[in-house]
Amino acid sequence: MAAQSAPAHASRVRRTPPVGAWFDRDVDPTTRLVTADDAAELARLQREHRDFLAPWEPLRPEEYFTAEGQRIQIAANLERHARGECEPRVVLDERGAVVGQVTLHAIVRGALQSSTLGYWLSPTVGGRGLATRAVADVVRLAFDDLGLHRLEAGTLIHNVRSQRVLEKNGFVRFGLAPRLLRIAGQWQDHVLFQLLNDDWREPA
Ligand SMILES: CC(C)(COP(=O)(O)OP(=O)(O)OC[C@H]1O[C@@H](n2cnc3c(N)ncnc32)[C@H](O)[C@@H]1OP(=O)(O)O)[C@@H](O)C(=O)NCCC(=O)NCCS
Repeated sequence: MAAQSAPAHASRVRRTPPVGAWFDRDVDPTTRLVTADDAAELARLQREHRDFLAPWEPLRPEEYFTAEGQRIQIAANLERHARGECEPRVVLDERGAVVGQVTLHAIVRGALQSSTLGYWLSPTVGGRGLATRAVADVVRLAFDDLGLHRLEAGTLIHNVRSQRVLEKNGFVRFGLAPRLLRIAGQWQDHVLFQLLNDDWREPA
């Protein structure tokens, strides 16, 4: 019976042509809430893949690449999470190992009911659909559990991999924001994507 009553978001994702056999969200969760215990592993991944991540991220202070720096980040994000402003999650590989992060930032309620999505993954697991699955997982969380109406994500113009991840999850490109974010030390233009929750309902 449970298999027949798929979450609302499952049908939304299935409308996106390339998605289908790669993921059964009912049996295969790929993200979980970050905990303080993840600090050392996240710091190790950030250190090991610093050169890979640098072109896509803000400049980071040296402390960010240490377990203590990550503990501070995690604590701040968990405080925001407790206030309902943020969903900071780690991405897991097929064996349950932490391989990256996906975060719903800036959850806004009222007339907007929206949030901004960010993510990164270790290049050691790149190209096998994990980011796509992780984004699918937080889309389900955002729409089915948090009751949001919209998710937004921005990518650098040349970040084709990230754009594919969004497109495979049904996100639609809707604009260009000039010099939106300071990435790698430069104010850089971003392509904006959004996904609307067609099944949004007034909370009971
Ligand atoms: C972007 C990122 C999350 C993708 O992770 P991933 O696990 O490799 O993503 P997936 O495997 O789910 O999908 C990647 C898609 O990009 C495609 N791709 C990979 N390299 C590509 C390239 N050079 N040009 C075009 N497409 C490319 C893959 O083929 C795949 O699409 P497909 O399934 O249609 O074939 C990861 O590379 C990353 O963390 N990059 C650095 C940080 C970053 O860019 N974060 C996002 C900021 S907006």
